Amino acid sequence: MKIVFFSAKPYDREFFESCNKHYDFELEFWETHLGPHIADAIKVGTDAVCVFVNDKLTADVIAILAQKGVKVIALRCAGFNNVELDAAKQYGIRVCRVPAYSPQAVAEHAVAMLLTLNRKTHKAYNRVREQNFSLSGLMGFNLFGKTVGVIGTGKIGAAFCKIMLGFGCTVLASDPFVSKSLQSAGVKYLPFHEVIKEADIISLHCPLTPENHYLIGSNSLSTMKKGVTLINTSRGGLINTREVIEALKTGQLAALGIDVYEQEEQLFFKDLSGSIIGDDDIQRLISFPNVLVTGHQAFFTQEALAEIAASTLKTVKMLLEDNVEEIVSDAILV
Ligand code: NAI
Repeated sequence: MKIVFFSAKPYDREFFESCNKHYDFELEFWETHLGPHIADAIKVGTDAVCVFVNDKLTADVIAILAQKGVKVIALRCAGFNNVELDAAKQYGIRVCRVPAYSPQAVAEHAVAMLLTLNRKTHKAYNRVREQNFSLSGLMGFNLFGKTVGVIGTGKIGAAFCKIMLGFGCTVLASDPFVSKSLQSAGVKYLPFHEVIKEADIISLHCPLTPENHYLIGSNSLSTMKKGVTLINTSRGGLINTREVIEALKTGQLAALGIDVYEQEEQLFFKDLSGSIIGDDDIQRLISFPNVLVTGHQAFFTQEALAEIAASTLKTVKMLLEDNVEEIVSDAILV
């Protein structure tokens, strides 16, 4: 049984090849992302394709996959906004993902971004290397006693809430599904607009859906406290980048940490250090001293990559053998 990987990096090869010792799939790793430009090059006899966050599985790409006899699309990530599920259903292609490989990996990265921005360790690191031990401009604030607003308390949001409770923060959350265990741990659920109005720090942990597109834009930003810190490790489309830039310029937003970006397909996971970047919005964001951008690395821990490989190969095998009883149901999308 053959699986072709798209957007494959050396670390994908390392973890999947190691895990494949238990399966013996034929694995082929392609560096290019999957899109209309390459779908036709897939050979007949490929049973599954394994894709990542920026591969685009539009209806026309899925039609080509069906024509080649591909039976499974395996997302080696949790989010699935890049796959047209209706088209997969129409062509009888199964779609799976890794619903929870390491919620802690993403939650801990969100906290790392928050602490970096607040305590300015990114600036201190550079300063000390130049023998500058001055503290001016490095003042932060205590997280203890602050109000943190968490938007989405699924697996990652729940892990984030627990860490922030440990810091001694008041944690307010908004999610259509209230978690009783988080409530008993001290999290208070409120409607979205009340959470963002009360919070000193806001962290986004909801998926990108048509309803959540631009959840954060000039309207919502204007109702927040002046000087709020915003962290987004979920999906770029949750925030309107241009309107967020305006809020940074006026000081309405005191700090922004993003691991995801609206136009990230053109940039992230690539070394562009020798290139001229034509995207003025990312250049503007990078130019702010109070903005921290990481290139979609929140998931990137050893534990998470091992779990992604194990879960993906297990689910693909079961789907190809039509033996799905054992699979956690939210791993299967179609
Ligand atoms: P999940 O499905 O466990 O939880 C998402 C929660 O958001 C659900 O409880 C849902 O009810 C809630 N929600 C949906 N719309 C909402 C809204 N408008 N307001 C408030 N809550 C809302 O998902 P999980 O595993 O916690 O992941 C969350 C997101 O994190 C994923 O959708 C993905 O986009 C992102 N992610 C980012 C990674 C990274 O490396 N940066 C890695 C993995 C996931």
